[in-house]
Amino acid sequence: MELPHIDRIASRRSFLQFLAASPLFADVGAPAFAQNLSAPSRLPDPMAWAPRDLDNLISDPKEALDVFDFEPVAKKNLPPAHFGYMVTGIDDEVTLRANREGFLKFQLRPRRLLDVGTIDLTTEILGATYDSPIVIAPTGSNRAFHPDGELAVAKAARPGNHLQILSSGATTSIEEAIAARGAPVWFQLYARRWQVTEALLRRAERAGSPVAVVTIDGGASTNWETFVRLRRTDTRQCDSCHGRSPQDYVARRPNFDGIDVGDRASLNIAKQTWDSIKNLRDMVGMKIAERHPYARGRNTRG
Ligand SMILES: Cc1cc2nc3c(=O)[nH]c(=O)nc-3n(C[C@H](O)[C@H](O)[C@H](O)COP(=O)(O)O)c2cc1C
Repeated sequence: MELPHIDRIASRRSFLQFLAASPLFADVGAPAFAQNLSAPSRLPDPMAWAPRDLDNLISDPKEALDVFDFEPVAKKNLPPAHFGYMVTGIDDEVTLRANREGFLKFQLRPRRLLDVGTIDLTTEILGATYDSPIVIAPTGSNRAFHPDGELAVAKAARPGNHLQILSSGATTSIEEAIAARGAPVWFQLYARRWQVTEALLRRAERAGSPVAVVTIDGGASTNWETFVRLRRTDTRQCDSCHGRSPQDYVARRPNFDGIDVGDRASLNIAKQTWDSIKNLRDMVGMKIAERHPYARGRNTRG
């Protein structure tokens, strides 16, 4: 039997016209798409009257209205590659965007007519009491952003009695961080070769760090797009500071002082299993916590 001739283009167009006009599609299906097709959005962008002005940066931290006011200042002051290292996500920055949007799902529910003259945010985390549940996540290489690096972070954490987690890749040693924080600091580490891990942990334990935080992902290399794009614009000679060998890497990371890191192939190990966690528990008296900030790329960012 011969099939009737179908003009595919005309059919597609009338189908799309039908969809675009459909009230069901506008209200339920994909409102943003539908709005773009027809009228402009009914509600103006609430920031329209005073958007963040990238030519007019804050000159004092006290002027910041929110944390994002700091970012353009960092962009202005840091070498492009260092700024890129800090802000990058991976693969089209999908997760960074998803994280930002994720926060919109949280609402603060006010409870009225309660006496909030004295509020108590005290939290106990693995046996220690902190003034609030605000914890400083580990970030390596802080001296790439400011000469005081992680020491400045420790000093900032001190008045609010915040828990600080020091990255093993910090540019400050665990001893210095604990002294500056005036209280025990947790110690983060990646999956390193076993002897390196042991040496790092023993040092952290001797320094008085009560908890080892094992980052259980991040072993694979990822596509740090913003980092690479900005690094390409950086005209400085990066190798003169960073070098290329594991020895160059650890030379600026004092937690590794005196530890034989061998060659690059043996510094990081790709495989960790629950047995690795058990081995860590048997190795030191510290409590062991695990985190996976790189779950879908880099940083819960990832
Ligand atoms: C510059 C930078 C360095 C980081 N270094 C580490 C690190 O050494 N170890 C680690 O476990 N996580 C590291 N992270 C991940 C952070 O601890 C944190 O999970 C991530 O930034 C997500 O939190 P945010 O959404 O507040 O940025 C780093 C993140 C950034 C931005």
